Amino acid sequence: MENTVLTVEGFSACFGDQKILHNVDLTVQKNVVAALMGPSGCGKTTLIRCINRMHELIPGASVSGKMSLLNEDIYAMQPIILRRKVGMVFQKPNPFPTMSIYENVVAGYKLNGIKMPKSEMDGIVEQSLRKAALWNEVKDTLHRKGTFLSGGQQQRLCIARALAMNPEIILFDEPTSALDPKSTAQIEELFVELKKSVTMLLVTHNIGQAARVSDFTAFIYLGKLIEFGPTEKMFTVPKDKLTEEYLTGKFG
Ligand SMILES: Nc1ncnc2c1ncn2[C@@H]1O[C@H](COP(=O)(O)OP(=O)(O)OP(=O)(O)O)[C@@H](O)[C@H]1O
Ligand SMILES: [Mg+2]
Repeated sequence: MENTVLTVEGFSACFGDQKILHNVDLTVQKNVVAALMGPSGCGKTTLIRCINRMHELIPGASVSGKMSLLNEDIYAMQPIILRRKVGMVFQKPNPFPTMSIYENVVAGYKLNGIKMPKSEMDGIVEQSLRKAALWNEVKDTLHRKGTFLSGGQQQRLCIARALAMNPEIILFDEPTSALDPKSTAQIEELFVELKKSVTMLLVTHNIGQAARVSDFTAFIYLGKLIEFGPTEKMFTVPKDKLTEEYLTGKFG
C-alpha cells in the first residue's frame, strides 16, 4: 500500500535451534504510533532487532521470511544504509558519554562520515532538539556533556539523535520504563507530536501507555502475533481470548 512504511511477512527468528518468532505478519502505516505489547520474553525486542538487522549480529542467530521498508527488502539492503533510515531508542538512555549535547545530536552524521557546513549542522541540532522538546532546556549548554542531563532529558536527547538522521521509522524499546512519571508523561506527549513527521514502533509493557499514545497495537504471545489492529478497537473488543486476558491483567 502507498502509505505503508514497514511490512513484515511470514517472519521467523531463531537463536540457535530455539525459534523465538513464529511467522509474524505486521504492517505499519506512515505517521502512526504502533505499539508492540506482550509478556516478558515473548519476542518484542527480538522483533525490533530484526527490523534494524541487529539480531543477525548474535552468533547462531537466524531469520526467515520477509521485511520491507518502503517496499524495499530490508534483508537485501546494506545494514549501514538501513540503520540510517531506522532509528532506535533503548530502554536506558544512552547518550555517548564523551560527547557534548551538540555532538550527540549529530553523532549519526559523524559516524557515517557525512560532512556539512557548520551552519547546516547547527540547524539540524536546533531542529532536532526542538522536535524532541528539549531545545529550551539545553540551548545555552549545548557544549556540556549529554550525561549531565536528567534521565528524562537524556532520553529526549537520544530521541533528538534519532530524529536528526531524518529516519523513516523510529523503534523504541520500552523507552520510558527507566523514567519517573513526569519524564514519562513528557515523552508520551512527544510521541503524539512526533507522529506528524515520523512513524514510530513502540515496545511497551505499559498497557496504559499503549492506550494513550498508539494508533495501532500488536499483541505478541510466545513469539506469535496474536492480534494486530486499531488500538481503540483492540482495547474495547479484543478478538482473541489471550489478548483479552492480557489486557485485563490475568497474566503478563
Ligand atoms: N542473545 C540471546 N541468546 C539466546 N536467547 C535469547 C537471547 N536474547 C533473547 N533470547 C530469548 O529470546 C526470547 C525473546 O526475548 P526478547 O528479549 O525478544 O523478549 P521481550 O519480549 O523483549 O521481553 P522483555 O519484555 O522482558 O524485554 C526469550 O526467551 C529470551 O530468553
Ligand atoms: Mg525486551
